[in-house]
Amino acid sequence: MPQRCDVVVLLSGTGGNLQAMIDSLHERASPARICAVISNRADAFGLERAARAGIATHVLDHTAYEGREAFDAALIQAIDAFQPALVVLAGFMRILTPGFVRHYHGRLLNIHPSLLPLYKGLHTHQRVLDAGDAEHGCSVHFVTEELDGGPLVVQAVVSVELHDTPATLAQKVHAREHLIYPLAIRWFAEGRLTLDEHGASLDGEPLGPSGHLIRY
Ligand code: GRF
Repeated sequence: MPQRCDVVVLLSGTGGNLQAMIDSLHERASPARICAVISNRADAFGLERAARAGIATHVLDHTAYEGREAFDAALIQAIDAFQPALVVLAGFMRILTPGFVRHYHGRLLNIHPSLLPLYKGLHTHQRVLDAGDAEHGCSVHFVTEELDGGPLVVQAVVSVELHDTPATLAQKVHAREHLIYPLAIRWFAEGRLTLDEHGASLDGEPLGPSGHLIRY
């Protein structure tokens, strides 16, 4: 088993992805270990999930800081106190400063509910329906300074059916998120997933523009 990989999870909300990580990483032996969950909202249900699993929690209220730079500097301090090898964004509803993103270059992952580069930003399920797309999905990517940009690691594709609504699409996409995020974290923790100047690689092979593609 490779060396232990400590992971800090940042979230603002329900923490469905956090729960999937807890369940998956504890189910099957993995070098990844969630050492802390940090939220900018004290009422985030994800904090309760973390506490139930015996994971350290920390709240850093962004409204207590004057501006993004000050908040992100405090956030870096809070994260680095746990000395994580990997930081994962799991519904963390904050735009991060370039300095923050650079600080964690190559060890900061995000999940987004669309097949990036399509539909960056919010309301992705509605936008997919409005466009009449036949396919939708979710993406895990390394975070760079571009919002919802950055080299793709893995994408899960789902088909859009005639009867789908934003709610049914959200349900399908979330179920896939809960599979691919733990998978990407496992790859990183095992030393298989890396980022260099050529982009993201898995087992030394470039992942290419869409990352690893999974159709369910
Ligand atoms: C997910 O849809 C994820 O793609 C987006 O934020 C949402 C977080 O959901 N970045 P949860 O709190 O993990 O349930």
